[in-house]
Amino acid sequence: MDDCILKIENLSHWFSSNRVLHNVNLDVVRGQIIALVGPSGCGKSTLLRAIVGTHPPCAGKVMMCGGDGSVRVIDTPDRERGIVYQRYSLFPHLTAQENVAYGLMIDQTSIPNRLFGRKKWGPLRAQHMEEAAAMLERMQLGSALKKYPPELSGGMCQRVAIAQALIMRPSILLLDEPFGALDEATREELQRVLLTLYQENLVARKNDEPPPHTVLIVTHEINEAIYVSDRVIGLSQYWDWKEVGEKTAPGATIVYDRPAPVFAPNDERDFMVFREQKEEILHAVFDPEYCQSYTEYNQMAAGFSKGGNA
Ligand SMILES: Nc1ncnc2c1ncn2[C@@H]1O[C@H](COP(=O)(O)OP(=O)(O)OP(=O)(O)O)[C@@H](O)[C@H]1O
Ligand SMILES: [Mg+2]
Repeated sequence: MDDCILKIENLSHWFSSNRVLHNVNLDVVRGQIIALVGPSGCGKSTLLRAIVGTHPPCAGKVMMCGGDGSVRVIDTPDRERGIVYQRYSLFPHLTAQENVAYGLMIDQTSIPNRLFGRKKWGPLRAQHMEEAAAMLERMQLGSALKKYPPELSGGMCQRVAIAQALIMRPSILLLDEPFGALDEATREELQRVLLTLYQENLVARKNDEPPPHTVLIVTHEINEAIYVSDRVIGLSQYWDWKEVGEKTAPGATIVYDRPAPVFAPNDERDFMVFREQKEEILHAVFDPEYCQSYTEYNQMAAGFSKGGNA
């Protein structure tokens, strides 16, 4: 596949007798903004943890693909995969700017270097803080650089967390229900932030550069999934596992994978546009009565394997 950035192959996961994920296969193309939806408890966070590398799968593998055709199996976290969770992961005793600069500091310096190499450390620190300020400006938080997390609203904290992840320039940004704790208006504001990442991808493509942002966002809001992404994936335990010779439910697998319409941040929201796809997703992913044929779905998915508009 051209410009594949992340590859998941036959991934299965279980917690003792609780089988959670079954034979998940997924190719993520550079520049895609993918939304992952699925019934509560089906294993979305488990899949994300396997991609981050904190909890490698019981079977199968997650691989990062290099532009030169190299492939590397993931079994530990590294800066190539950034993650933002629903609960703000900020240090309360650091300002917004320091929080965003923190990852660069840890990545590029050591404690002895910071304590004893002041001549070098000083200018590097200034550079990190400058980069953090620029990133926060991009998140429209230029006026909150010196504020501490308890002084920020939930939406602002989450924007700092996204800035914290983006400043590390991850190959793929993972978001696990990042807006789940926010009110509706703030949530919409943050969704528009994601749309600006898509716009940055478009500009890069126009200039013949690789798109800088590849995103996988878990959300339980189907409208949000269709709005922010260019490809929607459905993970579900509701599929015909008897068909593949299983005697008991083996866990969730990908049962839905389709392109989604693309919006610009200032586009008028017209949820009528989403209606058909929303119905389709509710049926294919969330309906326990509808157990999709695994074989048939996989044949169909081969035709959609690129997904999105990349
Ligand atoms: N550390 C763990 N030990 C045992 N079971 C676990 C562990 N983590 C998750 N599980 C189980 O795995 C299943 C999938 O959990 P997971 O959190 O991945 O689901 P999810 O799709 O993210 O759910 P939600 O939509 O509610 O966030 C659940 O049955 C959960 O109880
Ligand atoms: Mg979860």
